[in-house]
Amino acid sequence: MITATGITKNYQRGAESFAALKGVSLNINEGDFICLLGPSGAGKTTLLNILGCMDAPADGDLVIAGQKVVTSGRRQLTDAKLDRFRRKHIGFIFTDFFLIPSLTALENVEMPLLWSGKPNRERAKELLASVNMDHRLNHRPTELSGGEMQRVAIARALVNNPRILLADEPTGNLDTKTRDTILDLFDHLNQQGLTIVLATHDHEIAERVTQVVRLNEGRLEG
Ligand SMILES: Nc1ncnc2c1ncn2[C@@H]1O[C@H](COP(=O)(O)OP(=O)(O)OP(=O)(O)O)[C@@H](O)[C@H]1O
Ligand SMILES: [Mg+2]
Repeated sequence: MITATGITKNYQRGAESFAALKGVSLNINEGDFICLLGPSGAGKTTLLNILGCMDAPADGDLVIAGQKVVTSGRRQLTDAKLDRFRRKHIGFIFTDFFLIPSLTALENVEMPLLWSGKPNRERAKELLASVNMDHRLNHRPTELSGGEMQRVAIARALVNNPRILLADEPTGNLDTKTRDTILDLFDHLNQQGLTIVLATHDHEIAERVTQVVRLNEGRLEG
């Protein structure tokens, strides 16, 4: 589903270049639920952003769902095509949800459909029901708990029916009980066939999933 080979990424810090990823190779199969585990600064967010086509690597190859996205560090798609590709195949979830404060839960979930020019309120409702949020359709983010906000964000990430879900520390701001509810939801989605990559430094999460990939100082550990 995703093949990444020799991915590198450098950040410029003043005059110095800092290597955040030092040649990461990773093969993710359809239906995998991978926990990307590593300490703060390991490069987890950097790698997820590259796998999610939100950022470009300095070098390496990236193939997603048969599409060559990057070859030898060169992007293979135009901005517009990459945008469309990402929307179709990849859902993304962030630690702090990134919900739009002025919109209701329902409107937040429907938002990506509006961007795609295909509004569909029923689809948004169905998804909110699937994450047990149908009783909060008209609440705004400030009127929701952290776990509820994350469930809205998950529904929004799934609205275009992606095959891959990338989650960056999705339970970082949640208490352990709420965290477990969200992880149960990920398990359920994975059992339905969704491929999931979840970045975290929470070892308890790593214990729950079968596939753990460890990242440290920009390198994968065996
Ligand atoms: N925009 C940037 N400019 C310069 N350096 C950056 C930038 N973004 C990240 N870095 C550096 O790259 C390294 C990897 O950062 P990254 O955010 O990928 O780590 P992470 O594993 O997600 O950490 P955390 O668990 O704290 O979220 C860190 O040393 C960080 O300081
Ligand atoms: Mg991070």
